[in-house]
Amino acid sequence: MNAKQIKELVKEMTLEEKASLCSGRDNWNLKGVERLGIPSIKVADGPHGLRVKDPNSYEGIEGRRAVCFPSACCTAASFDEQMLGRLGDLLGEECVAEGIDILLGPAVNIKRSPLNGRNFEYFSEDPYLTGKLAAAYIKGVQKRGVGTSLKHYAANNQETRRTTVSIKASERTMREIYLRQFEIAVKEAGPYTVMAAYNRIDGVFSAQSEWLLSRVLRREWGYKGFVMSDWGATADRVKGLKAGLDLEMPGSASRVTDKEIVKAVQDGKLKTAVLERAVERILNVIFKVHKARKKTTFDFETHHREATAIAENSIVLLKNEDGILPFKKGERIAFIGEFAADTPYQGGGSSHVTPYRVAHTLSCAQKTVDILYARGFAPENSQADGGALLDEAVNAAKAVDKVALFLGVPSSVESEGYDRADMLLPERQLALVEAVVRANPNAVVLLHNGSPVELPFANKIKGLLETYKSGEGAGEAIANILFGAVNPSGRLPETFPLKLSDNPSYLNFPGDKKEVRYDEGVFLGYRYYATKAADVLFPFGYGLSYTKFNYGGLKLSETSFTNGDSVTASVSVTNAGGADGKETVQLYVSSANKDKIPRPIRELKGFKKIFLKAGETKEVSFNVSFDDLAYFSPEFGGWTVQNDVHYIQIASDAHTVLLQAEIFADAKYDRRITVNDDTTIGELLEHEATRAFAQTVFDRMSGRLLGDKAKDAEASGTTAQDSFWQSVILGWAMRLFKTTGIFDEEKYSSVLNDLNEKLKNEKKRS
Ligand code: BGC
Repeated sequence: MNAKQIKELVKEMTLEEKASLCSGRDNWNLKGVERLGIPSIKVADGPHGLRVKDPNSYEGIEGRRAVCFPSACCTAASFDEQMLGRLGDLLGEECVAEGIDILLGPAVNIKRSPLNGRNFEYFSEDPYLTGKLAAAYIKGVQKRGVGTSLKHYAANNQETRRTTVSIKASERTMREIYLRQFEIAVKEAGPYTVMAAYNRIDGVFSAQSEWLLSRVLRREWGYKGFVMSDWGATADRVKGLKAGLDLEMPGSASRVTDKEIVKAVQDGKLKTAVLERAVERILNVIFKVHKARKKTTFDFETHHREATAIAENSIVLLKNEDGILPFKKGERIAFIGEFAADTPYQGGGSSHVTPYRVAHTLSCAQKTVDILYARGFAPENSQADGGALLDEAVNAAKAVDKVALFLGVPSSVESEGYDRADMLLPERQLALVEAVVRANPNAVVLLHNGSPVELPFANKIKGLLETYKSGEGAGEAIANILFGAVNPSGRLPETFPLKLSDNPSYLNFPGDKKEVRYDEGVFLGYRYYATKAADVLFPFGYGLSYTKFNYGGLKLSETSFTNGDSVTASVSVTNAGGADGKETVQLYVSSANKDKIPRPIRELKGFKKIFLKAGETKEVSFNVSFDDLAYFSPEFGGWTVQNDVHYIQIASDAHTVLLQAEIFADAKYDRRITVNDDTTIGELLEHEATRAFAQTVFDRMSGRLLGDKAKDAEASGTTAQDSFWQSVILGWAMRLFKTTGIFDEEKYSSVLNDLNEKLKNEKKRS
């Protein structure tokens, strides 16, 4: 159905029918209008597998059996857009087979604090990585004709008081960190729906924010789909509709809010056009997804194998001293820790998938190798005899050549609905590591968690694998990596700080009862740690391989560029080790920043995952656009590139630059400043149009206040005083000098006008 036909259809609908379309029929279905042939469509969670529920069962998380793919915390570590596209395609295939029209994902909120209970569902601390991977996922699902729901828009970065808390962040922080990934995904992939979050921003509910839903999403980014609320996130239905919230989910059983809409239109408080706009958007998606419905099936086994391959492409090798991994043929190995036998593979809450077939690491490994197993620890609240378990583990460790210790955060601790209390592993696990490494120092630790943990034993172990929540194929993938059938290639999509208090959000998480201040601003994750050159346990982008890669010959196609241009950066990568393997090439940009704008030292702007046979070399190239150098300037009210030298950097992680090349950005913005009381003499000196005036004021000021002697000393080379006078603001200068004739108080405002006029007419750089 085309736009014109949809408009005509809306005209045939009664007011009640229009209102009814703006809320769900139940938890998992939208309403249809039978008499007009409008079908009802079906939604399901999301994001890493299907949770298909019966219409009215929200209670209990179990749904119909589906393949549980690795969670976003894990797939993000693949740094592999193509793989996310494939994941989307597989999920789309399952949706079609299950009659699901809209999949409720991907979830793209930024991992602001390691404590967010829902971090396992989110990709990264970096908006660029998140946005690119989410866009690939969305395209993959939607290629099948199934819609997605990009969630949770926006800044839903904690579970504590998630339905009421108000986020206080500067516009720059919102634009660069908390909205940027939504912007990338919306512009590149056009999700059919966006899900408005529970939380408030600056006191306004996301689902009622005109700024978020209409101005930014639709007018600025050109979003064409519809916006639904998160489940129960609609406080005031009519306000929401006006702000741009089209569909309320799940909708009230007694249809109260539909009636509120009808009444508001009848009372003249809501324009019919606003209601019809929402109905048109919803209908547009309904007909689009309905057309794609097909009777199909999919092969669970094939999808299970794909889930395993995704995990293999994502698990991160963080430490490998003395080449302890992979385990070699003939070595005697012990698996210690109950997560070997019962592998944690997903987190809790609405994303919970009732899996098809879970592969646990111990049983997978035992198919080909003899493994000595000791349970090692029991859950913190269990009555099991901790001492006996510890003794058994120590004896096992003593009896073998190498030990694999399976640790992690219990699934009950990482879940939607609440946050973690700390970044620690359970005490019983910490005691176990200490005892085992004392008995056998050839120890490898495997972590199962959704976001960073503190590792006080990091120096005492020889190997470390971050497996995240790697889906139902976790055990096969982990065993394949441990025994060398797969060469690990994941990279950390987040920084592992040494301790929780190092995290930049530490002092402001989860905020007070009403609000949480994002005082760290844009300095989140590596943007903070790398800029401060702070010690971390493992940096963003870090990860090892069973082979070794060398880089060389970074080249740029241009030495300078301007608005609308892009430059090609190419670099050659060689697999210099003895095993075939995949490498993630990371490109960051950094600004010389002579304007001294507070900016992160570098930001990720490109990543590519490549496969290289042992000894092979490949040329990898990136397209860096002019806009990749921009920051959001509150001063100029938009994205701005500094007229300056910038560096294109190839780095092995966010802290370690391998190669760097310079490019000059010749920005042709009209970056006018507005002159007012607070404008400094130094700022006026920077602009050609105001320089002569500023120089006169500067000379007179320094001469008058310093006296001629001091002025002579100044002339002989000191610049400290220059800086002082340059920092004087016009308002102060006017008060000081009004009697001297430089400023006439009467004429002050016309002086300001004159300066602003001059700046306006200043020729743009050409
Ligand atoms: C979650 C969403 C989910 C929805 C439906 C909400 O509580 O925040 O992510 O899609 O429930 O289950």
